[in-house]
Amino acid sequence: MSEPLLPPIGMLAELTHRCPLQCPYCSNPTELLKANREMDTQSWLDLFEQAADLGVLQVHLSGGEPTLRRDLEQLIAGLSARSVYTNLITAGVGVAEGRVEAFAEAGLDHLQLSFQGARPATTEMIGNHRGSHEKKLETARRARAAGLPLTINAPIHRHNIEEVPEFIELALSLGAERLEIANVQYSGWALTNRDALMPDRAAVDRQAEIVEAARERLTGIMNIDFVTPDYFAIYPKPCMGGWARDAFMVAPDGMVLPCHAAQTIPSLSFERFGERSLAEIWTDSPAFNAFRGTDWMQEPCRGCERREIDWGGCRCQAMAIAGDPAATDPACVKSPIHARMANFIAAANSTGSERTAESFIYRRIGAVTEPA
Ligand code: SF4
Ligand code: FES
Repeated sequence: MSEPLLPPIGMLAELTHRCPLQCPYCSNPTELLKANREMDTQSWLDLFEQAADLGVLQVHLSGGEPTLRRDLEQLIAGLSARSVYTNLITAGVGVAEGRVEAFAEAGLDHLQLSFQGARPATTEMIGNHRGSHEKKLETARRARAAGLPLTINAPIHRHNIEEVPEFIELALSLGAERLEIANVQYSGWALTNRDALMPDRAAVDRQAEIVEAARERLTGIMNIDFVTPDYFAIYPKPCMGGWARDAFMVAPDGMVLPCHAAQTIPSLSFERFGERSLAEIWTDSPAFNAFRGTDWMQEPCRGCERREIDWGGCRCQAMAIAGDPAATDPACVKSPIHARMANFIAAANSTGSERTAESFIYRRIGAVTEPA
């Protein structure tokens, strides 16, 4: 049964694809947009106005690296004027002196800082950027000094999964109120680099035990969010909380999308902000309506008691692995091709532990010409 259409609550604004780091696990599309394709300040401010009118309560400012936008203070101020909760998702590298304080002054509510490793050498190797760890520590200190609540985001994969206990210590030492242990989701660059990033099952199991114990030990001190790895799961996650249910994202060029990988679904076409209003896109866009609710579902999702819990999982993962965006997410044990997930894990791990950063395709414009 279809639910009535509710307004969105959250928006992810990818302000730019430019980034000083080159992480091979990046969820951005492999076809990165150059600076000249980015929306200008006024268009973003108009979009934020319309988002607030539509009911959006939280905006995550992301990228690429959003602090490369020189107008970021102005964009934050625009959201703050409408009392929209603003979270800045940053790699914290190359943020000029005084800017973190200026973000706070403009009304930023929260800062989320990624660390590619808990050790400096790992951070530098994954992001392919010398000195990045030190710069991140400095950004964290400035954020806390400016009174901003801080989340440390640790994207986890084969090359840093053994550092989970150190990530916990690092986040505590930086005064973070939240740590996100986020196992990499294989879309965008991460899908291209899947074999090089995939951990083995023993490491995943160890990680889950460590996180569980730390959560108990740190109750009331620091929250730990644990994004479990899809390929090792029994049931999928409700990607984006369900397709076009309560959140959406906007690409740097103003393309309004139900999720970050939606453009990998070739049967869908998307609309750009400005050509239509945000309200029209949210309500009427055929791409947004394609997988809303449950009417589009095939078996086994159609008759499943979990269909309004996980909403059939991730459409983009169904596209990438089953070749059909309306198929059950193969991460689900009920999917007829669920066994492929174990095969991908086995294939990735059969290439041996000698695999190093040399096997990465680092994220940069032109490194991949065909979508994965
Ligand atoms: Fe979710 Fe579909 Fe699997 Fe049921 S069959 S658990 S609805 S993905
Ligand atoms: Fe598109 Fe999951 S990333 S639905």
